[in-house]
Amino acid sequence: MDALEAIYTRRSIRKFVMKEIPDDDVTKILKAGMSAPTAGNQKPWQFIVLRERTAFEQVIEANPYSKQMLPDVPVAIMVCFDKNREKYENRWQMDCANATLSMLLATHGLGYGGLWLEIYPVQERIKMIQKSFGIPESVIPFALVAVGHAAEMKSYVEKYDESIIHYNRWKE
Ligand SMILES: Cc1cc2nc3c(=O)[nH]c(=O)nc-3n(C[C@H](O)[C@H](O)[C@H](O)COP(=O)(O)O)c2cc1C
Repeated sequence: MDALEAIYTRRSIRKFVMKEIPDDDVTKILKAGMSAPTAGNQKPWQFIVLRERTAFEQVIEANPYSKQMLPDVPVAIMVCFDKNREKYENRWQMDCANATLSMLLATHGLGYGGLWLEIYPVQERIKMIQKSFGIPESVIPFALVAVGHAAEMKSYVEKYDESIIHYNRWKE
């Protein structure tokens, strides 16, 4: 799959069949996350790879909505912001979002199904996740990328919309 095809056809997958994913592919997905652009190349992130069922149960506790899909997901990668790695203020959300999207695209490009599960900015969720995973206060869990084998086919949706494009200046 080439880059444009992966970008155009990526969809959020919420139904999975439980089947393992090799470590090599997890590494490729992490590498995609770490390849994302960041402000001043600050790379303010850290990643937690979840593979154990107890870890998934802790996520479900913090975000009960995730109970629908996580039981059939073999791997999830948590993107965290580490304040100690920050060089430029107020840019980390964009940096972490870029890493999250890069990992979703890599997941899809490798033939798996992926889903962005929100942690930040829900304060209660952040605190629960910090406590369950032993994450220090200086590190903010940002999002979880679920990576699994899709059990649903999602068709291509055309999102291109001419009406929201302006050329050279804003025009009503
Ligand atoms: C910031 C952000 C938070 C999201 N949080 C969740 C979430 O917690 N649970 C979920 O099922 N999908 C979540 N999504 C996925 C969106 O619902 C999904 O991308 C959107 O509906 C468009 O569908 P598509 O990804 O199939 O194109 C999130 C996406 C983003 C960018």
